[in-house]
Amino acid sequence: MIQQTKPRLFLAPMEGLGAIEFRKMLAAIGGFDECCTEFIRIPTNPHLPSLLREYNPQATAPIPQAAQLMGVNPKDLAEAAALLAEKGAHRVELNCGCPSNTVTGKGAGSSLLDTPDTLYEILYQMVQKCPVPVTAKIRIGVENDRNFHKNIRLVEDAGCSMLTLHARTRADGYSHPARWEYILEAKKQLKIPVCGNGDITSAEAALDMLEKTGCDHLMIGRQAAKDPFIFLKIQSALEKKSFYPDPSLFYQALDLFFEHIFRRPSPIGPIKQLGSFLLANHPVLKKRFLTHPYSTSIEAKQHLYLSLGSYFEPLTASA
Ligand SMILES: Cc1cc2nc3c(=O)[nH]c(=O)nc-3n(C[C@H](O)[C@H](O)[C@H](O)COP(=O)(O)O)c2cc1C
Repeated sequence: MIQQTKPRLFLAPMEGLGAIEFRKMLAAIGGFDECCTEFIRIPTNPHLPSLLREYNPQATAPIPQAAQLMGVNPKDLAEAAALLAEKGAHRVELNCGCPSNTVTGKGAGSSLLDTPDTLYEILYQMVQKCPVPVTAKIRIGVENDRNFHKNIRLVEDAGCSMLTLHARTRADGYSHPARWEYILEAKKQLKIPVCGNGDITSAEAALDMLEKTGCDHLMIGRQAAKDPFIFLKIQSALEKKSFYPDPSLFYQALDLFFEHIFRRPSPIGPIKQLGSFLLANHPVLKKRFLTHPYSTSIEAKQHLYLSLGSYFEPLTASA
């Protein structure tokens, strides 16, 4: 299938792994058009101003940062969306994909895919109240695709500007191969843009998804943590150009990650989490890095830089 316009590339929201320090690091390397906060949970009886206090649309400038909401109450979510727009969000998204039981137990996240009436009401009210585009990020379904067609249609009918489809069911978790045929189906059924997500692990895979599904845009999650150059590689592949990554750009961006992560009270966890992705293709280095007993976070940083030093070649290999 042929795309009409150049696809936009989105860095996926990823709670924990993809926190603000990571998004800043990725933005320093660039290549993507937008990123998004991890989900902001809107509980019952929320005090919205304090829940939304941290959101800064400029934090990843010049790349815009949208905001993602998770919850179940249409009125609160609509109000939160309007407040986020006031704070400068260019887009507000509803999370309808989170598999976590603590979330889904309360009817939010992917559980919404089993309650289409509630899902419609939430999105409709968000669209009515929020002056900037509202989008939905969904999975195929909870256990199966029973509500898939209903759900994709209602996203469009509620007035959303884009559907992002993580092409797995909740039961698939994160490891079942993504079912791109559902992205193709969404693209056939809808007039609004469809952003494809799931298993884009290389520039070739990105082109393959575009080709096989005809989706308008692409979203990448975990591969961006394994290979922060993935977006630049995809841009080059789209332009049919060769790509030569710049290691100094990578290290500048990693420095930025550390500058910000060191402001946290306990940075070792997030450093290990990022390291486990960056070293994903190097099991021995990864194991050594993860099992080392660090007494300080500076030590963890040094160990990561040393581990990366001996592995950078494969990371820089084109696409
Ligand atoms: C650690 C982690 C945290 C995630 N947190 C969120 C989140 O906050 N909001 C969301 O919509 N999706 C979240 N996701 C799902 C991703 O956005 C994405 O849909 C999924 O990882 C599939 O894309 P990928 O194969 O490119 O990684 C998360 C995924 C991971 C691995």
